[in-house]
Amino acid sequence: RYEPRKEDKFSFGIWTVGWQGVDVFGPATRPPMPADRAVYKLAELGAYGVNFHDNDVFPFDAKAADRDKLVGAFRKALTDTGLVVTTATTNLFSHPIFKDGTFTANDRDVRRFALRKVMDNLDLAAELRASVYVCWGGREGAETGAAKDVRTALDRYKEAFDILSDYVLQRGYDLRFAIEPKPNEPRGDIFLPTIGHALAFIEELEHPELVGLNPEIGHEEMAGLNYVHGLAQALWQKKLFHIDLNGQNGPRFDQDLRFGAGNARGAFWVVDLLDTSDYAGPIHFDFKPPRTEDDQGVWVSAAANMRNWLILREKVRAFRADPEAREALKAARVDQLAIPTLGEDETWHAIRNFSPDIDALAKRGTAFERLDQLALEHLYGIR
Ligand code: GCO
Ligand code: MN
Ligand code: MN
Ligand code: MN
Repeated sequence: RYEPRKEDKFSFGIWTVGWQGVDVFGPATRPPMPADRAVYKLAELGAYGVNFHDNDVFPFDAKAADRDKLVGAFRKALTDTGLVVTTATTNLFSHPIFKDGTFTANDRDVRRFALRKVMDNLDLAAELRASVYVCWGGREGAETGAAKDVRTALDRYKEAFDILSDYVLQRGYDLRFAIEPKPNEPRGDIFLPTIGHALAFIEELEHPELVGLNPEIGHEEMAGLNYVHGLAQALWQKKLFHIDLNGQNGPRFDQDLRFGAGNARGAFWVVDLLDTSDYAGPIHFDFKPPRTEDDQGVWVSAAANMRNWLILREKVRAFRADPEAREALKAARVDQLAIPTLGEDETWHAIRNFSPDIDALAKRGTAFERLDQLALEHLYGIR
């Protein structure tokens, strides 16, 4: 029970289990983890795929021969285990050269180099058959007011996606980009801070069809937003290219807890939405095993992401199948929202003088509390 299977399509970032626990106040608490070791261990736990930054596999300053050796070990681990590279991304945040951002750095040479670094890794991503390329612009932003003209920064941000889209199209790569919004951290204020900002930005690009979203639970919740609502809008706009699932306790620093920890009620509705949607990508976890954990704790934490997904999936399905819940959904008129406000042959004329029984409508309760309590009782495990 709750054993992950390949068809569940669980995937992990190599950097998640590989996080050594370095934070603002202290150094690493765990030794480095080579990418190939992460692949073997994740496969053992039942994962299906991985996502990687270029520098999860080889260091920023690796010589060509070392890079080839490390990529070779990574590739061998993938072949040995059958793990799929679902997604790839670029480390555009660690090196000091990126301290003022990459696509939106004031310094033009930094922007040109950053794009070159992305193109290098797009080649590897295509070779390893990734289909989504994540762009998390953690360093795109500012701490101060005068140092950055935001409208001009957005011009450069758009230019970067236009250049990268041309690259992918002209190289014939089967890759689409997924922007990952985040409100702050590491920058004081990050550009494209939420799902909504990113969705609007994409419409300004030369190739909007190539660019979608990779929304992360913790990042929306850091901004006090309802992740499921954002996810649902991304789906509605056909822009949900990928997901980063994890856990967060409200607006504070980015916790990257394992999925199902933090806002458990939110997690319930995330699983409900994805389980009933047409999202076909990996069920991807971007978490960080807390700094308190040793190697064993890392794998306990990693496995718990998948286990919590499977537990919650059982619960949301039980809720949806519960005859009492079905009846409560009807009583709450949830199905009526699907009926268009105008009839097929109607226009605004039909309702221009519409006058329902105002008092009766105002008095009528919604029965939402009863419905929601049923869902909570499934989550709490008493039904
Ligand atoms: C974060 C982000 C990152 C990105 C990842 C992809 O912790 O703020 O979630 O983990 O997803 O680095 O570039
Ligand atoms: Mn983080
Ligand atoms: Mn995060
Ligand atoms: Mn993420």
